[in-house]
Amino acid sequence: MFKKNAVSLCVFLLGEILLNIYNMENRGTFGSRFGAIAAIAGSAVGLGNIWKFPYVAGENGGAAFLLIYIGITLLISIPVLLSEFIIGRRGQSNAFRSFINVAPHRGWAVIGILELLGAIFVLSFYCVIAGWSLEYIVQSCAGGFKGMTQQVMDERFNSFVASGYRPVFWMVIFLLLNGIVLVMGVTKGIERCSKFMIPALFCILVMLAGVNLWQPGFKEGAAFILEPDWSAVTGQTIIKALGQSFFSLSIGMAAMITYGSYIRRQESLVSVSVIVSLATVLMAVLAGLAIFPSVFTYHVPVTSGPDLVFKTLPPLFAELPGGRVISILFFILLFFAALTTSLSIMESLVAFFTEELKIKRISALGIGLGIVIVCSTLCALSQMPDSPITVAGMSLFDWTDTFSSNYILPIAGLGCVVLVGWFVPRTVVEHEITSSGKYYFWLFRFILFMMRFVCPLVILFMFINGLVN
Ligand code: PHE
Repeated sequence: MFKKNAVSLCVFLLGEILLNIYNMENRGTFGSRFGAIAAIAGSAVGLGNIWKFPYVAGENGGAAFLLIYIGITLLISIPVLLSEFIIGRRGQSNAFRSFINVAPHRGWAVIGILELLGAIFVLSFYCVIAGWSLEYIVQSCAGGFKGMTQQVMDERFNSFVASGYRPVFWMVIFLLLNGIVLVMGVTKGIERCSKFMIPALFCILVMLAGVNLWQPGFKEGAAFILEPDWSAVTGQTIIKALGQSFFSLSIGMAAMITYGSYIRRQESLVSVSVIVSLATVLMAVLAGLAIFPSVFTYHVPVTSGPDLVFKTLPPLFAELPGGRVISILFFILLFFAALTTSLSIMESLVAFFTEELKIKRISALGIGLGIVIVCSTLCALSQMPDSPITVAGMSLFDWTDTFSSNYILPIAGLGCVVLVGWFVPRTVVEHEITSSGKYYFWLFRFILFMMRFVCPLVILFMFINGLVN
């Protein structure tokens, strides 16, 4: 019965893909409001929200950090995000051409190129990590991690990464899965996939947090991110909140300009931005509630990033009731989060190649996948012991991450907000923000003020502070 269903599903999918290659349209739109929100939230909610945000929040004052984060997101990040959406929706093209279409001078297209470069850099390391989550789904299914000590987990992970070919294999599989979704187009591929994956991701998070309610360390874990500790808040906390908020909202890497160009005219950009921003905070808090109770129950050191997810957590999850299922669900969660994010970045490349080289979407997808597979392979191999693939004293893997977040993101974000605040005609910005006068006129003045004066200064300050430190 199962086999028959699986076979018919495969036949159906294959038919669908072939049909789509045949009838492929080059430029799509998000067909519904929910679809647009799901796709944009899909881009935003990624590894950053699951493995970094809860940790940064916990280390920097818990609920105090959350409040600062929400304030900064509403005041600073949303105007920047809106300026990317406006460039995309007005420009009605890819992240490069949209700048030419909206700006008074072609030179602004440099920012578009920078955003696309950022997209390639982010994808290069992102796909490697997404590949790791596939490997760990398989490992969770094939026996799990019960009873393994931290030392065994360390060795396991290190030897997996050092093998070179295994991470590359999973990264290629991950990118091919991206390809399958993208070949179906914007509405039938990205939107449909996000409409399923984002609610699924939310349900898995609620389930994982729910299971943790019975852990002895739940109270401590919840207090770690939900109890306000204002004494931990310093000037650097605000900078961290800003950096985290920009990264979380996928600013500066072409994704939001491209998705902006798919948002229908009648949709309010302001409400889409606010809903997506709050959804990312909610998901990050839930991720914290799913992760930290175990960490505090077993008194292991609190960490973030790959160490937390691939070394610390798996044996702790294995101790929970239904431990193996929990591990599998957790890595599926990671995979869904990474896939919906990578779709947005990959789509930016596909749109660029389709429209600039005037080729079919399928060929553009081939070029995009080719470039990213080469870059990601280099990133994966740069993590092998004694690998010569280094830049500025770091492995290529770490460098792509650092360079895109610390340099490309602030410069590109600054470029967008200055362009929209000062150079795009005021009536155009007003039309976009108020959806042609339908909503919030007073809000428009406030947002324009933030775009013109506050955001550029804050981003400049953040950039210089990053350089100095
Ligand atoms: N928002 C994603 C995350 O939190 C990262 C990302 C950055 C995605 C830039 C696209 C562009 O993981």
